[in-house]
Amino acid sequence: MAWLSLKVLLVGLSFLGCLYPLVDFSFSGETRGQKPNFVIILADDMGWGDLGANWAGTKDTANLDKMAAEGMRFVDFHAAASTCSPSRAALLTGRLGLRNGVTHNFAVTSVGGLPLNETTLAEVLRGAGYVTGMIGKWHLGHHGSHHPSFRGFDYYFGVPYSHDMGCTDTPGYNHPPCPACPRGDRPSRNLERDCYSDVALPLYENLNIVEQPVDLSALAQKYAEKATQFIQQASTSGRPFLLYVALAHMHVPLARMLPSAGSRGQRPYSASLQEMDHLVGRIKDAVDLAGKNNTFLWFTGDNGPWAQKCELAGSVGPFTGSWQARQGGSPAKQTTWEGGHRVPALAYWPGRVPVNVTSTALLSVLDVFPTVLALAGAPLPRGRSFDGLDVSQVLFGQAQTGHRVLFHPNSGAAGEDGALQTIRLEQYKAFYVTGGARACDGSVGPERHHERPLIFDLEADRAEAAPLDQGGAEYRAVLPRVAAALAGVLADIARDRVSRADYSQDPSVRPCCDPRRPACRCRAA
Ligand SMILES: *[C@@H]1O[C@H](CO)[C@@H](O)[C@H](O)[C@H]1NC(C)=O
Ligand SMILES: *[C@@H]1O[C@H](CO)[C@@H](O)[C@H](O)[C@H]1NC(C)=O
Ligand SMILES: *[C@@H]1O[C@H](CO)[C@@H](O)[C@H](O)[C@H]1NC(C)=O
Repeated sequence: MAWLSLKVLLVGLSFLGCLYPLVDFSFSGETRGQKPNFVIILADDMGWGDLGANWAGTKDTANLDKMAAEGMRFVDFHAAASTCSPSRAALLTGRLGLRNGVTHNFAVTSVGGLPLNETTLAEVLRGAGYVTGMIGKWHLGHHGSHHPSFRGFDYYFGVPYSHDMGCTDTPGYNHPPCPACPRGDRPSRNLERDCYSDVALPLYENLNIVEQPVDLSALAQKYAEKATQFIQQASTSGRPFLLYVALAHMHVPLARMLPSAGSRGQRPYSASLQEMDHLVGRIKDAVDLAGKNNTFLWFTGDNGPWAQKCELAGSVGPFTGSWQARQGGSPAKQTTWEGGHRVPALAYWPGRVPVNVTSTALLSVLDVFPTVLALAGAPLPRGRSFDGLDVSQVLFGQAQTGHRVLFHPNSGAAGEDGALQTIRLEQYKAFYVTGGARACDGSVGPERHHERPLIFDLEADRAEAAPLDQGGAEYRAVLPRVAAALAGVLADIARDRVSRADYSQDPSVRPCCDPRRPACRCRAA
């Protein structure tokens, strides 16, 4: 009861704007058991081909490539959705959007977020004695009790949604470019539909806005410092910890960096990828120093590259989605083509995860939740089904197979948001609906419904160029197995406890440091 009223008080206070941190994570009491620590790093809009260890054309990820050599690299690892909020909701709940209710992105003015009766990874681990921290992009609702401070995180530092959802004083690289925040009394002159200039991008520490607008050029440095501090403090606390770092990289706008000796003439994407790699290297160094052999570091991405951003988007590597590319539109982010869905993934845990191993197991971001809980010895929340698996045997090199079947929800490009219209079965992939997201040239691929699904054999055709012949024996053998898998999961979802997110909007819930200043800016311009 006392805690409830404290929550209410804190929610109330957060609307007063720039306060000093009210909630500090305090470490006390309990003695260290054998429970492992977890650090989960999620890149944003990073392509499968943006990891040098995956794709020889990429030379910008020295730290990540080293981590791959010191751990396990997964080459058939999938996001749970190919857009921000649904992918993150699935990571934190182990459940697809059709169950947890998050089927598309939240807005700056969204009243709701990840439904409150969905249980997050942080909530379970905190209950199991962990200190929990989150740094970076949340995007699961920021209003009231949807803020990360009320979703299981003892500590939060970051931007509540994508960093293109607010103006800044030094806009980064974007396509098309967005104007800077208005200053003084000058009215906003925003003509670009996709640029937000009525509210500046906020940076939170716990419930308080500590900077608005965010200085994008200094953000990576701040994230590195806060992550290092959290790991150091948590590892001396005597309690195990969870740190979830959701990077701003590689989402646009890409921050403008101070030109350094080595970076002259570099493409902005390449420079930004190097900055991300350096930031991950710093977090890994902190883990190596403080977490000694008892910290499991998991790196992956939320979805593939955002192709409509042209040269500011990443590389899909060999996953070019040729069938869709011929129809028009992009087969990357927001689609269930491999370019949108297959993400880089690395596991690093000296002494536990074997070194320099490449795994071809079919795994998913959905597996983080059950795997981490199993390793922590914490029970799965009751009264609901999960789409992820405990894959710790794969991580430890004791098993080679992950999912036999994996469902990819539609994420904006075609069909109904969240619906399971693409199914992976072993090396096969069946599309009941196809469509292309907006491409660099502005084209969008037509939405096509396939009563008899298109089935690709990814082992023979990773570019998804030519579907199996519908009259052939292989197609006729695979189709009933795909249909049975789909019917099975839909029946399970129909029996499950399914939550619904509130997607209603209200302009008054915009995070605002000082409503009297243009764009809500914190300090005098
Ligand atoms: C960590 O594990 C590695 C590999 O098993 C071992 O060489 C090293 O001594 C361990 N370090 C500590 C501090 O336990
Ligand atoms: C990792 O494995 C590859 C291929 O098996 C090998 O060429 C490379 O030398 C190994 N690297 C390390 C650091 O062991
Ligand atoms: C959350 O609450 C809604 C509304 O009462 C319910 O329909 C849903 O099943 C609940 N979800 C879970 C996971 O219990």
